[in-house]
Amino acid sequence: MRKLNYIALCSIGLEKILSNELKRLNYKIENANNGMVEFSGKVYDYYKLNLKLRTAERIFIKIAEFNAESFDDLYDGIMNLDLSYYFPKNGKIIVDKVRTSKSILYNQSVIQSIIKKAIIEKLKKEYKINIYNEETGIYKLRVYVKNNIVTLTLDTTGEGLHRRGYRKLVSEAPLRETIAAAMVLKAGWKRKYVLIDPFCGSGTIPIEAAMYGINMDPGIYRRFSFETWSNFDEKKFVEYKKESLEIIKYGELKLFGFDKNFKMIEIARKNAEIFKLNKFIRFEKRNMESIKLDYSEGYIITNPPYGERLKDKAHAEKIYEQMRYLRKTFPYFNYSIITSHENFEAFFGKKANKKKKIINGKQILYIYEYKS
Ligand SMILES: C[S@@+](CC[C@H](N)C(=O)[O-])C[C@H]1O[C@@H](n2cnc3c(N)ncnc32)[C@H](O)[C@@H]1O
Repeated sequence: MRKLNYIALCSIGLEKILSNELKRLNYKIENANNGMVEFSGKVYDYYKLNLKLRTAERIFIKIAEFNAESFDDLYDGIMNLDLSYYFPKNGKIIVDKVRTSKSILYNQSVIQSIIKKAIIEKLKKEYKINIYNEETGIYKLRVYVKNNIVTLTLDTTGEGLHRRGYRKLVSEAPLRETIAAAMVLKAGWKRKYVLIDPFCGSGTIPIEAAMYGINMDPGIYRRFSFETWSNFDEKKFVEYKKESLEIIKYGELKLFGFDKNFKMIEIARKNAEIFKLNKFIRFEKRNMESIKLDYSEGYIITNPPYGERLKDKAHAEKIYEQMRYLRKTFPYFNYSIITSHENFEAFFGKKANKKKKIINGKQILYIYEYKS
């Protein structure tokens, strides 16, 4: 059976966590850096990859990789490919994004239009047609040109995977769902332990933990680009989604989300309800400094305010100092705290066991981990 090369995208810094997710699904990682994890798999594996991965942002099929030092090389490189395997005779072909670095070819819009033209010409040849009508199915391509190597990829996902579909309402500074999931996985939280988010906002961290805790695949309630494709095997996909529902392990979870703002608690509850997760999480209006729970060990995984986005850095620093209360109240807990503040440890009064940098678009975040 034909194998496909895949690239899973993630925020820079999450490659290892994503690789571990893939390894648990029995994939062998071929390369992981710069927000990309490469591996190979079977033809329809992208159905399950999109359904199951918690920390990936998108799943690409790598169509080809070839050298191009001129526009002619680029055109010929595309003309040499077997494209009717990937595209039908009437698909909507969109060369969505071109990224170039350290290459002779750098003009992204020219590269974009040459690739589009070459693909259409090649498909006309392969299908023996005079006109290529772009009627149906979304085929979005992303192209990377690095060190004169062109990598042509096809996006199976569509809207980024962080859009699970449960977050209809957000807080002022919501955390990306994929990053929240990465924090939960990286911290090593397991369903038997308590997890507290003292600054839960719209509830992203406890909601991601609930999905992980009951083994709910994060993609089951949304749609993907591949569902528009002419080769979409609906029966197979429905079967996979049924399997996803069957492997859910309902049971009690000890998840707590607190926020001082009652509006946030209402939003968090509404979001959790969308995937029927509200019975697994207790959301409560509470100031961080009045949290009391009868657990001697567990996990505090949280995203406290950070100045630059809430426009008040000094206020955020004061909160980090006040978070020493948590250390006193929950001295034997593991902590995982995400913020854009580079010097969180100084205010919290303790050096982290690990500090991990995450780059998400233009935003730089740090996860500070404290192991008990
Ligand atoms: C960066 S936001 C959290 C966003 C959240 N992770 C999400 O995805 O929506 C920080 C939250 O901390 C809350 N907050 C600020 N000071 C607090 C305090 N002293 N006690 C409890 N919550 C507080 C704010 O109301 C805000 O919702």
